[in-house]
Amino acid sequence: PTQPRSADAQRFRSQSSTVKASQMTALVEHDTVITFGTYDLLHVGHIRLLKRARAMGKRLVVGVSSDALNVAKKGRAPVYSLPERIEMLQELRCVDKVFVEESLEAKRDYVLREGATLLVMGDDWAGRFDSELADVCTVLCIPRTESISTTATIERITTK
Ligand code: CTP
Repeated sequence: PTQPRSADAQRFRSQSSTVKASQMTALVEHDTVITFGTYDLLHVGHIRLLKRARAMGKRLVVGVSSDALNVAKKGRAPVYSLPERIEMLQELRCVDKVFVEESLEAKRDYVLREGATLLVMGDDWAGRFDSELADVCTVLCIPRTESISTTATIERITTK
């Protein structure tokens, strides 16, 4: 493995004073990085997460939650349908492949199937998958962008 090359990766390294020793291998460039999420009403918090994840590897694969999984996870259907969410993610320069995440429990299978060696998530997921997936990939939770989320955006629009 080589050191990260991009400016994003370098910036991330210098800002990440909270990264644990066990996560240091995440800072070495990986071949395939994987991440998961709903990506409904695509916003800047999503874009920053995806750019940072992509900067840690040669390709970024995104598992986008099915509509049914989103209902199970968040108690509501996404505003944008699954095909719309997939189409938008596929158009992003930092995303190399998109697949449908049907089940939260299948993360291990998706990681192995995609050949990912690093799973990156926002820190709202901290501690959720570390031990469960430790034998198949490195799990790195990075800081979320403050003050923005799909839920907050929906609330802002619907309460005005
Ligand atoms: N994310 C982030 N910063 C934000 C919002 C999301 O880094 N402000 C990250 C999440 O941690 C996750 C990915 O983006 O790794 C996809 O998150 P998703 O759940 O689709 O977006 P949210 O805006 O958090 O959606 P919701 O409000 O419906 O929970």
